[in-house]
Amino acid sequence: MTRSASAPTLPKVDVPLASQTPPAGQVNVRSAVPRDAAEICRLVNAWADQGLTLRRTQEEIRANSGEFVVAERGDGLIACGALAVFSPALAEIRSIAVDPAATGSGAGRLVVAFLMDLARVFEIDELVLLTKIPAFFAKFGFRSISPEDLPRVFVEEAIAGRGRTIVGRTVMLRELWRED
Ligand SMILES: CC(C)(COP(=O)(O)OP(=O)(O)OC[C@H]1O[C@@H](n2cnc3c(N)ncnc32)[C@H](O)[C@@H]1OP(=O)(O)O)[C@@H](O)C(=O)NCCC(=O)NCCS
Repeated sequence: MTRSASAPTLPKVDVPLASQTPPAGQVNVRSAVPRDAAEICRLVNAWADQGLTLRRTQEEIRANSGEFVVAERGDGLIACGALAVFSPALAEIRSIAVDPAATGSGAGRLVVAFLMDLARVFEIDELVLLTKIPAFFAKFGFRSISPEDLPRVFVEEAIAGRGRTIVGRTVMLRELWRED
C-alpha cells in the first residue's frame, strides 16, 4: 500500500541505529525493535534450562518486540526485559535476562529501573512478577505477596492461559505510586 500525499506526518521516532551503539564500556537501555529478536532470544534462553526464565521462540519475541527493552554495550546486547501491560492498572515484568558473561555489571539493575520508569510513563498503578530470585527484585521495592492476592483474571489469562505456573516461584508486587 502506498501512502497518499495527504497522509498525516508521523511523529519522528528515535529508532536506534547500529551506527548509534554506545562506545565500549557504556551501557544504554532502549526499547527493542524486531531486529533484536534473535539476540533477545539468546539472552532469555541462556537461563531457561535452570528454570530462571521461560524459554521463548524468536518468532514470539519478534511478534511482541514492543514489550521488550534491551541493554546495549559497544559489543552488542547484554541484557533484556519485558513489560507486559495487562490492564491500565496492572503490568507484569517478564524475561529479565543478562548475558551470562555480563552478570554483575549492573545491566540487570538498569533494565529493571528502565521498565519501572516506562510503567510510570504508562501510568500503571502496580507491577507484578513471578521469580525464583526475590532478593534481587526486593532491591527495587517489590514485596512478596500470596498468589491469591493476584487478580483472578490475570492468573487465568497471563499465567495459566500462557501455559505458565506459579509453582516454585515467588509472586511479587510493587505499587508504583509508592515513593521508595
Ligand atoms: C538476576 C540478574 C537479572 C541480575 O542482573 P545483573 O546485571 O547480574 O545484576 P546487577 O549487577 O544489576 O546487580 C544489582 C544488584 O542485585 C544483586 N543481585 C544480582 N543478582 C542477584 C540474585 N540472583 N539474587 C539476589 N541479588 C542479586 C547484586 O548483588 C546487586 O546488589 P547491590 O546493588 O546491593 O550491589 C542476572 O544475573 C540474570 O540474568 N540472572 C539470570 C536470569 C534471572 O534469574 N532473571 C530473573 C527472571 S524473573
